[in-house]
Amino acid sequence: MRIDILTLFPEMFESPLSHSILKRAQQAGVVDIVFTNIRDFATDCYKKVDDKPYGGGPGMVMMPGPVFDSFEHVEKLSPEKGKVVLLTPQGQKFDQAKAIELSEQKRLILIAGRYEGFDERIRTGLDAEQISIGDYILSGGELAAMIIIDAVVRLLAGALGDEDSPKDDSFSGGLLEYPQYTRPEVFRGTKVPDILLSGDHAKIAQWRHRQALERTKKCRPDLLKDNDKL
Ligand code: ADE
Repeated sequence: MRIDILTLFPEMFESPLSHSILKRAQQAGVVDIVFTNIRDFATDCYKKVDDKPYGGGPGMVMMPGPVFDSFEHVEKLSPEKGKVVLLTPQGQKFDQAKAIELSEQKRLILIAGRYEGFDERIRTGLDAEQISIGDYILSGGELAAMIIIDAVVRLLAGALGDEDSPKDDSFSGGLLEYPQYTRPEVFRGTKVPDILLSGDHAKIAQWRHRQALERTKKCRPDLLKDNDKL
């Protein structure tokens, strides 16, 4: 997969992309992440990318010119058209199903804005899917883009050591993940459930499913709208 990121702050991505799974996925060629600084496409000598809102009001709004010019430049960097995503609190809420859908694309172009928002003509003029990571306002789309990149890249073949592990993640089957245990067998008086030491894989799978159901019922009953999961 190729991921292009249009941002005013490429440096913000350095640390999250230089560790663990995201680092290894890039080194292994599973994903290629390319940055474009929107400010490089500002046309005046002050490198201005934002301005006051027409009609008055607080804050600054991102100007359409540098966003469109940077986007049109990035589009041509690869023959793959890709899916364009605009990070905004006005978008559809990001979830695991959306992460899976995005992980099936060959190319993503993520546009992270700053300031009070985008000029409306960016929203209407780009053929972009608008995605929010939750009902709160961040200072910009960069952290939202990082969350999407993390959730998507770990689903790509070859990104994780064990190919099967994303399937057991919370939400993947519509349920939270079952409880996991590792050594020691007894920790501060609490023992690992006997069933997990039994070696009976069918019984273990049954137990895990039941635990996942119970945990979901208790912690996230909203995920259980589907009656056949009950
Ligand atoms: N930009 C600012 N807040 C955001 C949010 N909640 N999701 C995505 N992009 C954003």
